[in-house]
Amino acid sequence: MRSTFLPFALPDIGDEEIAAVEEVLRSGWITTGPKVRQFEREFAEYVGANYAIAVNSCTAAMHLALEAIGLQRGDLVITTPYTFAATAEVIRYFDAIPVFVDIEPKTLNINVEQLAEAVKALIRDEGRRTGDGEVKRWLPPALRDKVESLGRLKAILPVHIAGHPCDLDAIYDIAAEYGLAVIEDAAHALPTRYRGHLVGSSSLRNSVSPKQSFPHLTCFSFYATKTLTTGEGGMIVTDDEKLAERCQVMSLHGISKDAWKRYTAEGSWYYEIIAPGYKYNLTDIAAAIGLVQLRKVERMWERRREIARRYTEAFSQYPELEVPTVDAEAEHSWHLYLLRLNLERLKISRNQFIEELRARNIGTSVHFIPLHLHPYYRETYGYQPDDFPVAYREYQRVISLPIYSKMSDEDVEDVISAVCHLVKHYGK
Ligand SMILES: Cc1ncc(COP(=O)(O)O)c(C=O)c1O
Repeated sequence: MRSTFLPFALPDIGDEEIAAVEEVLRSGWITTGPKVRQFEREFAEYVGANYAIAVNSCTAAMHLALEAIGLQRGDLVITTPYTFAATAEVIRYFDAIPVFVDIEPKTLNINVEQLAEAVKALIRDEGRRTGDGEVKRWLPPALRDKVESLGRLKAILPVHIAGHPCDLDAIYDIAAEYGLAVIEDAAHALPTRYRGHLVGSSSLRNSVSPKQSFPHLTCFSFYATKTLTTGEGGMIVTDDEKLAERCQVMSLHGISKDAWKRYTAEGSWYYEIIAPGYKYNLTDIAAAIGLVQLRKVERMWERRREIARRYTEAFSQYPELEVPTVDAEAEHSWHLYLLRLNLERLKISRNQFIEELRARNIGTSVHFIPLHLHPYYRETYGYQPDDFPVAYREYQRVISLPIYSKMSDEDVEDVISAVCHLVKHYGK
């Protein structure tokens, strides 16, 4: 057994990141400035998108994206309950309504058949106005008698859980057909590829839905545990100039273009506020880390991929375990390795399994406690656990194992031997 605790996640920060931060600190320019602009340019180039706007979190990115598409109070946005707090809270910032659609069990991403049905029912048409049964089926229970007061269905907010891409063919088709915006929660999805194209890239959008037009933004996270980190940070990418400009302006107090330059030699003291914006700008300190991380992103991904391969090879032989699978058209970022327990074959619960791993000095986590189980969503919308049966069932048997580029081969083998030991010991 390991003698030291293996954390669930650690950032891959080295001397280069430290030197880059030192350089910024010594430069005298520590907030938004040239490093942020460079990070945006290089990120846009790496992903292959027209515009990238750096912000201080993915939460901020999604908030700005929803603002840019014009989300209003009472409007509806479809997402899944199988995600982190941020995905739905940004919808609530507008007093708009998150409409949850269940996930499909293989990838834990949004079930696109159900998504299509929900969109058909919720789009403002005759059915919606009369509040028929189909409409009510998709609304949160507490709102089923308030159909008349609801705004428009505006957007789909799919989440690429763990780094496995959603079924983007289906999602883009539905968005184009019904005129909905797509805002991708790509917090886990760097680098994730779909049909060979990076999530967020123009080439993905153009190859999957060549002639179709709908508002589209992709939001990334650079939080401490993510595949590229700046401590805290995020990025919005889009090909739409107007949406990009709106996000840029609203990320810094709604101040007209190049607000950050007002203290530079080329800047001016004069500025205009065109809307009540937010304080979501990234600092040059964080961007300097991001620039170094971006140069290592493929290498760090390779290592995560190697670890995932090793885990899958070791765990596939046990019927007590279900390893993550990757669809033929997908390349997984391996932000998370979601191992599922076949509980009917084990004498212990998922929670006990986690405790046993902790006792063996292996840190783990659970992604995610579905949103509809949390007090806020339960009480506001009247949800029951079985309202989203797949999300509820999978949550009860999932464990996130450590997977990060700083792990040594010994760390990986320690995780494998602890998991295999428990399976042998507690298997029925
Ligand atoms: C699926 C998902 N979306 C959004 C976020 C929010 O990211 P951030 O912490 O950068 O705001 C997270 C954070 O972990 C996440 O897991």
